[in-house]
Amino acid sequence: MDLGLRGKIAIVTGGGNGIGYGMCEVFSEEGANVVIADFAPLDITQKLAADLESKYGNHVIAIHADISSSDDVSMLYDKVLDEFGTVDILMNNAGKMGLNRIEDVTIPELRKYEQVNIEGLFLMSQKFVEICTQQQKGGHIVNTVSKSAFTTNSGGNSPYIATKGAVASFTRGLAIEVGRRGIYVNGIIPGYVITATTKNLKDRSEQMKKLIPIGREATPREIANVAVFLCSEKACQIMGALVDVTGGTML
Ligand SMILES: NC(=O)c1ccc[n+]([C@@H]2O[C@H](COP(=O)([O-])OP(=O)(O)OC[C@H]3O[C@@H](n4cnc5c(N)ncnc54)[C@H](O)[C@@H]3O)[C@@H](O)[C@H]2O)c1
Repeated sequence: MDLGLRGKIAIVTGGGNGIGYGMCEVFSEEGANVVIADFAPLDITQKLAADLESKYGNHVIAIHADISSSDDVSMLYDKVLDEFGTVDILMNNAGKMGLNRIEDVTIPELRKYEQVNIEGLFLMSQKFVEICTQQQKGGHIVNTVSKSAFTTNSGGNSPYIATKGAVASFTRGLAIEVGRRGIYVNGIIPGYVITATTKNLKDRSEQMKKLIPIGREATPREIANVAVFLCSEKACQIMGALVDVTGGTML
């Protein structure tokens, strides 16, 4: 299916790895131009950008930015506007994950989750809405939530769960606020996804796979396919939705 995304400008936070990189690949396949916004070393993300460009023929740039820093977010959008003059799509995908028993969580540690998963996502969305409004155009925001915001099998990650719950609520709240401006806001709910980071987490056991009705974890590309679809005109009736891409784990 042609999603009609050719020539669109998509920012993908956390685009240097895992689900975010999957999104960059799918956007590239669809002919969209991509901004990999990540705090991974720039030489690594620039190489990913160059590889995507040579494979798909679109324009891909990498910008080194920590989304939890308002200075970095301003710098990021300045560079995007310098390069492309506009932005059409924001994938709020970067997130801080981790396991912390409640006894071990200090307030500074809790704030790190808040700063990335809530403040970073908020800052990125605020600037995106401002640009769309100034340029009198619509756009698409897709937030990466997590099934742990709704149901969890693993204890010891309450800071992560709490902040992802906020992402789910924020998605609905922003959708109703900006929908009439033509700005779509939706979320995706991944369950268990195999990435370089999660394959080392101890709760990603064979036992866990038995909990997934389709019998296996997702690949980043499988999550990305749905997220990118939400940015197309074909998804024009989907607003403020949180789309379950857990292979049935939420059942
Ligand atoms: N992997 C899973 O099983 C799973 C399940 C549910 C939800 N999620 C969510 O999906 C999203 C992506 O997860 P993933 O597994 O692909 O992660 P990942 O660790 O594979 O990749 C995350 C990328 O984000 C970047 N990043 C992290 N914090 C950043 C920041 N503050 N500013 C800029 N870049 C930053 C990292 O450098 C990295 O390149 C996260 O929001 C995560 O909570 C993942």
